[in-house]
Amino acid sequence: MPFKITAVVGAGTMGSGIAHVLSLNGYKVQLCDIDKAILEKALDIISKNMDRQIKKNIIDENGKNEALKRIEIIDTLDKISPDTDIVVEAVVEKYEVKTNIYNQLTKILKQEAIIASNTSSISITALAPKERAANFIGMHFMNPVPVMKLVEVVRGYETSDETTGKVIDLAKKLGKIPVEVNDYPGFISNRVLIPMINEAIFAFYEGVAAAESIDSIMKLGMNHPMGPLELADFIGLDVCLSIMEVLYEGYNDSKYRPCPLLKKMVSAGKLGRKSGEGFYKYK
Ligand code: NAI
Repeated sequence: MPFKITAVVGAGTMGSGIAHVLSLNGYKVQLCDIDKAILEKALDIISKNMDRQIKKNIIDENGKNEALKRIEIIDTLDKISPDTDIVVEAVVEKYEVKTNIYNQLTKILKQEAIIASNTSSISITALAPKERAANFIGMHFMNPVPVMKLVEVVRGYETSDETTGKVIDLAKKLGKIPVEVNDYPGFISNRVLIPMINEAIFAFYEGVAAAESIDSIMKLGMNHPMGPLELADFIGLDVCLSIMEVLYEGYNDSKYRPCPLLKKMVSAGKLGRKSGEGFYKYK
C-alpha cells in the first residue's frame, strides 16, 4: 500500500464518508474536527452506513467492526501523527479556513507527506502551501462517498507526478475510479454540472416550464437519475451559487452568470433539502 497512516480533517458530510472508505479498505484513519458533537455524529453515520453495506452483502459484520477500530477521532490538528502519509482535508469551502489548516499541518507532518483537498471549487494552485506545493493535490470525492465511484484527481501547477501517481493508486485501492484533470475553475465535474443546473433555474425563472416538468424532461429524456432542480436542492443552493461565482470570476465570462432567482433563493435562506425548502419542500 502506498500509504499506511491517513488522516481526514473535517468530519461533516464528505469527511465522514472519506474516513468510512479509508477504514474499510484497511487504512488507519485519524478523523479530526473542531466540533466534538460532529465527531460523535460522524461515527454514528459511518456505523449506520456500514450496516447498509452489510444488508447489501458488500461487507460483513466482522469487516465493519475491524474498520471502526481503525478510526480514531481527534478534536485538534496537533493530535495528528507526524508519521501520517496522507491527510485529506474536507472542511468548509473557505479559502482562509483551508490554508490555515495547511499551515498547521506543514509544521506537524513529515516532509514527504501528501496533503489532498476535497475542495469542490477552490483553485488547487492557490490553496497549495508554498513549501509543499509538489505534495499538494485535489482529491475530489463525490457525495455520497461510499457509493460514488468517481474521484476527480486535480493537479495544481506544481503538483508532482509522484504525488499524482500515489493519489491515483490510493483512489483505486479504495475501489474508486480516479480521473486526472488540471486545475482550472470548477475542474471538469462542476464546470459542466453547475452551469447545467443554473440553466435549468433560468428556464424555471423565465416560466418556460414548472420545476417538476424540467426535472421530468431531464430524467426521462436524458436518462439523468435526478432532475437538475432536484439535484440543486440535494447539493444545496448556496453551494451551487458559490460554484457559479467561482466560474464567473475565474473565466471572466458572462456565460457563467448566476441566475437572479438562485441568488434570491439563497438570500431568502431557501437552500434546498438542508433548509427544508428549495425548488421543492421537504419535511
Ligand atoms: P460540512 O459542512 O458537512 O463539513 C465541514 C466540516 O468541517 C464541519 O464538520 C466543520 O466542523 C469542520 N471544520 C470547520 N473548520 C474546521 C477546522 N479548522 N478544523 C477541523 N474541522 C473543521 O461540509 P461538506 O459538505 O462535507 O464539505 C467539505 C468539503 O468537501 C468542502 O470543501 C466542499 O466543497 C467539498 N465537497 C462537498 C461535496 C458535497 O456534496 N457536500 C461534494 C464534493 C466536495
